[in-house]
Amino acid sequence: MRTSRCFFGKSSWKQCAEELADDRAMLVIDHRIKELYADKLASFKKNFQNVDEVLVKNPEEKKSLDFVKILAEKALDFKLNRGDWAVAIGGGAVLDLAGFFASIYKRGAKLCYLPTTIIAQVDSAYGGKTAVNFGEYKNQLGSFYPADVIGIDTSVLRSLPKKEVYNGLGEVAKYVMLQPDDFVDAKGDIESILNGDISKYNNLVPLCFRIKEKYVDDDFFDTKGKRVALNLGHTIGHAIEKQCKHPLGHGQAVAIGLNFALFVAFYKGKLGINDATKYYELLKPILPGIKYSVFTKYVQQNLCYDKKADKDKLVFIYPLAKGWATEKVTLNFLNMCWNKFAEVNGDVGYFKRG
Ligand SMILES: NC(=O)c1ccc[n+]([C@@H]2O[C@H](COP(=O)([O-])OP(=O)(O)OC[C@H]3O[C@@H](n4cnc5c(N)ncnc54)[C@H](O)[C@@H]3O)[C@@H](O)[C@H]2O)c1
Ligand SMILES: [Zn+2]
Repeated sequence: MRTSRCFFGKSSWKQCAEELADDRAMLVIDHRIKELYADKLASFKKNFQNVDEVLVKNPEEKKSLDFVKILAEKALDFKLNRGDWAVAIGGGAVLDLAGFFASIYKRGAKLCYLPTTIIAQVDSAYGGKTAVNFGEYKNQLGSFYPADVIGIDTSVLRSLPKKEVYNGLGEVAKYVMLQPDDFVDAKGDIESILNGDISKYNNLVPLCFRIKEKYVDDDFFDTKGKRVALNLGHTIGHAIEKQCKHPLGHGQAVAIGLNFALFVAFYKGKLGINDATKYYELLKPILPGIKYSVFTKYVQQNLCYDKKADKDKLVFIYPLAKGWATEKVTLNFLNMCWNKFAEVNGDVGYFKRG
């Protein structure tokens, strides 16, 4: 397995550029980043003699084979070789797209990630999973192809729209629940960020990055069951995120999923009321103010499509006071729990054990 060299902080893009200098590079750039950070990009590009760029507008729509073809045509025109670089600059969608492209271009170009959303910095950049969407479904075609170099500069997070901040913090909360050693500081940092103190990203992003790193390095190809923990909160998250009346971003759907997971853990006696309350207080500022019962239909319809589902059962991930555990549970049980959970809108104060 290739390892990634990771740089953090304000000079991280420059450090990456120095690693890449003298080689040819094709930059795949989220168009919002080009609009917002033209000077920063220009100073990154100054390090190269041969550089070309492709802009990606509406990146999730471009996470497709059609756009991979466009990238390949552009790269061939530019005479990008196997030893040259693809550099992804943007959110998780641009990273997944450019990473997938790099993994197949001439059987593997070198790859650099400069992630610009919270999700991309804490989740997509490290771990080697690349993908494009196919047909109706997300991430159906992909590869394991870790970036050679990753540069994480949290200063670019200042321009994120509120919705993306909430989405990112949903994933952050997942990492904090998986490894609650730094719980108090992390909770304070989340609250500070929501109150506008973006300097706190400098604590939270590396914290989550390191937690992800640990899970990935233990199970790079996702075959040993270690990476399954990274799906905490995602069983319900995936089931509700695409419902249409109240469309939720992924991270906010995950926040509700985390709230549900702590409910089920409490209900099954795996989590005491103090720890359940502690996790709920972490999630509260991120949770959307919405009646959970609007999602009931989607939970009933979509749980069976969970990637960990097998006939009428699925592997559910519980948060524990320290760490996590998995257990096979029936879809009927989860639906029953959801109804109870929705009745109290996830509020721990009203939880009762069955
Ligand atoms: N490979 C993995 O391990 C992994 C992990 C998590 C998510 N993902 C993938 O990542 C994608 C979600 O990532 P995302 O949430 O970053 O979405 P995204 O890439 O679609 O970006 C969200 C929005 O933010 C904008 N944006 C990006 N950086 C910005 C900045 N600094 N300021 C202002 N706007 C900015 C983008 O233009 C876009 O409109 C999904 O496709 C998901 O499947 C992959
Ligand atoms: Zn997620």
